[in-house]
Parts: sequence; structure tokens; C-alpha cells
Amino acid sequence: MAKRAPTPNWRAWLARWDEQQESFNPSRERRFDAMFDVLAAALPRRFTALDLGCGPGSLTARLLRRFPAARVVAVDFDPVVLQVGRGALSGLGDRITWVDANLGAPGWTMSLPRRRFDAAVSTTALHWLRRPELRRLYRDLAPLIRPRGVVLNGDYLPWGAQRPRLGRLAERARRNAFGGKSLQSEWAGWNRWWRDIEKEAALQDEFVLRKERFPTPHGSSRDSPVPLEFHLRALRRAGFRDVDVVWQEMENRVLVGFR
Ligand SMILES: C[S@@+](CC[C@H](N)C(=O)[O-])C[C@H]1O[C@@H](n2cnc3c(N)ncnc32)[C@H](O)[C@@H]1O
Repeated sequence: MAKRAPTPNWRAWLARWDEQQESFNPSRERRFDAMFDVLAAALPRRFTALDLGCGPGSLTARLLRRFPAARVVAVDFDPVVLQVGRGALSGLGDRITWVDANLGAPGWTMSLPRRRFDAAVSTTALHWLRRPELRRLYRDLAPLIRPRGVVLNGDYLPWGAQRPRLGRLAERARRNAFGGKSLQSEWAGWNRWWRDIEKEAALQDEFVLRKERFPTPHGSSRDSPVPLEFHLRALRRAGFRDVDVVWQEMENRVLVGFR
């Protein structure tokens, strides 16, 4: 009889995920809090949010802790992180619905368990999408968010070619914060997490699927990062109002938009 792989320590994997994310974004918790302050001011106690590019559920878990009457539909396309999230956050029961869907593909909203949300939130995820995909995603979101509902995107949103001086300033500040090391060194924690978790026998099927879905390693694309201005414009064109930056530390920002 084939031996079953031992159950991984999902919570430990989530804790290590948080550690590596924080290693290149030391303001991560403050940025989560800034997003929750907006949700607290904009929504009633009981609400349902979409978490776009949820990973193993860092944002979802914090949101559900801060808002005990809330629920989250957490979407990602990576079977490995979805499995870590399901395992680590199983104690939250049906307050989380995990959805396996590609935010960059048309029709992803058909995988959602409902057609109406009070909010959509996302952290460190939408920079994975290219411009046409982002435009479509924001357009797809508009009819899903109820009137007076809110979208919040926390991510590195660069100034871009229109503001080269500010871009250089942000780059220098980032290097200073990391002791003069190159951006490459920021990837060390991410790469280590993936190298280590790939050894989990219980995740081998998920890794096969992951390699089909993400054939090139994240960060290898030569596309220039999508600037802040693009997000602002695309959200407005999709039908969101009062679109603006509500929190920022150089290019690390939280964007808000209302229906
Ligand atoms: C750096 S992680 C951030 C995860 C989590 N939001 C956090 O803050 O820790 C980016 C996530 O976006 C997901 N992602 C990237 N492209 C995606 C796509 N096309 N559809 C769904 N999820 C995607 C990745 O699988 C990954 O889990």
C-alpha cells in the first residue's frame, strides 16, 4: 500500500510566508491596517469582501480578525498557496470561501460563489497582471461591487516614466532601507520559501499544476511595472469614483475607489 505523505504544518508555512513578504515590505502590517481603516469607515460591520490574489490568506486572515462579522471570498490561481491557506486557516470555517481562478483570464468571475460584494481588496498581487488584464479586471469588478462599495489595492505602484525624478528618489530610498543592497537580494526570502515548500511530499500534485499555470518564475518578465497613473485611470474608466491614494510610503501605496 502506498504511504500517505505526512500532513504539512500549514500554519508554519503561512508564518514563513508572512516573514518573507515582510522582509521586502517592512510596512506590510501598517499597510494592511490602513486598508482596514478605510473598510471600517466605509462599510457596516457585516460585509463580504473579495480578496484578489489572496496567496495563502495573509490579508484574508487579518481582515477576518479585525472584522468578526465579515466574510471573504479569496481568489488565487496558484494551487500551492491555496492549499497552504486552506490548511492554515481551516479554523475560520465558512467565513472564507477559497476560489481557484485566473484573474488575468476573461470569465474568471464565473467561478465566484456570488455576484455581489461590499468590497474588493488586494495586496502585493495585481502587479502580476499586464495592462490589458488589469483593465479587464477593473471592468469586471465594477458590476460586482455594490453601490457605495469599495475597492482597495495595496501594492508597489511606481511613479513611472512621467515622474522619473520621483522614481529615482523612491529607488534610492528603497536601497537605503535595505542597507544599499540590490533589489535582487529582496527575492532571497521568496525564493527560499518556494525552494523549501517544494520538498513537501503532500504538495507534489499542486506543484505539477503550478508549473503548468506559471511556467516562468515570477519576476522574470521584462515588462516594465505598471505605473500608478495607469491604475488610477483604469479604475475611473471602469466606473469607480473618488479614486485616489489613501496611504503611501514612497511607491508602496494603497489605492481606493468607490462605486
Ligand atoms: C506576492 S503574492 C501576495 C499574496 C497575498 N495577497 C499577500 O499579500 O501575502 C501574489 C499572489 O497573486 C497571485 N496571482 C498572480 N497572478 C494571478 C492571477 N492571474 N490570478 C490569480 N492570482 C494570481 C499569486 O498566485 C500570488 O499568490
